[in-house]
Amino acid sequence: MKMSESPFKGDILKGKVALITGGGSGIGFEISAQFGIHGASVAIMGRRRQVLDFGVSELRSKGIQAIGLEGDVRKREDAARVVETTVKHFGKLDILVNGAAGNFLASPENLSPNGFRTVIEIDSVGTFTMCHEALKYLKAMPEKGLSTGGFVLNISANLHYTASWYQIHVSAAKAAVDSITRSLALEWGTDYNIRVNGIAPGPIEGTPGFQKLAPEEMKSKAKEYMPLYRTGERWDIAMAALYLASDAGKYINGCTMIVDGGFWLSRPRYIPKEDVKELSRVVEKKSRMVGLPSSKL
Ligand code: HXC
Repeated sequence: MKMSESPFKGDILKGKVALITGGGSGIGFEISAQFGIHGASVAIMGRRRQVLDFGVSELRSKGIQAIGLEGDVRKREDAARVVETTVKHFGKLDILVNGAAGNFLASPENLSPNGFRTVIEIDSVGTFTMCHEALKYLKAMPEKGLSTGGFVLNISANLHYTASWYQIHVSAAKAAVDSITRSLALEWGTDYNIRVNGIAPGPIEGTPGFQKLAPEEMKSKAKEYMPLYRTGERWDIAMAALYLASDAGKYINGCTMIVDGGFWLSRPRYIPKEDVKELSRVVEKKSRMVGLPSSKL
């Protein structure tokens, strides 16, 4: 199987309607495309008309039913309008993907409180707002024969699982996103049969995040630092999203799946393996000698 081929059957999202914020570019676009290729109709939401138009024409060229809806997730009225328009156009809403995010590198001392707030408003408040406005369509409606509710996917990050330089605002925002994922999974899973999950990507090539956050030097060296010796591809995230959104993930609720090749667990290997062997023997020898008179050491 080639990297770009999907291991999933082409109909796993057949008949579903998905709304993807930030769906015009990067990870959001790839999720939109893969959801469409696997049978879903997709509405992509974003702030820039041009980006949306380009995204929609790409999706349609793959035979996907797609529309582009302009809006800012920070504005409740935009969120409500986009949800309503999606339902008006496609007749329902089954899947909401919160992919819209804001980011830039800034040290805490150079980041204004408004810069901090801006990212929280896009990532955390925006995620909640979209969920809030979409709820009435995502609920299970047994009276209409819909015993299972919809699915929400929140795109997070791995930054806050440890701590990341120049990312205090995004780390705080994504920590809130993970928390929203768990709370909604509990409350809306129980009350409305809606599953809510997240994906925490690592560095993913071909995304605005990678473009903005990784200095050129890091881009060329990134592979050396990664446990699997490669950075991620948008495809990796889209496949995880498909798994979670499809029936394969029907018992997964409240989980944020880390898709970063194990990067968040890692630090660069400062000492080569061979040196460790030598070093540890020296340390053992020394420790055996502890207790001998100092003249013998
Ligand atoms: C310091 C900055 C800044 C920078 C903006 N600000 N850019 N501070 N360094 N580079 C501050 C401003 O000074 C201002 O505060 C406040 O942030 C709001 O800035 P605006 O430009 O007015 O905001 P706005 O036009 O709404 O733009 C939002 C944005 C922008 C987040 C700042 O970059 C944006 O729209 N980005 C969207 C696309 C994006 O970032 N995608 C990448 C997502 S990557 P003051 O105090 O001056 O008023 C991603 C990956 C995460 O999420 C995981 C990585 C592993």
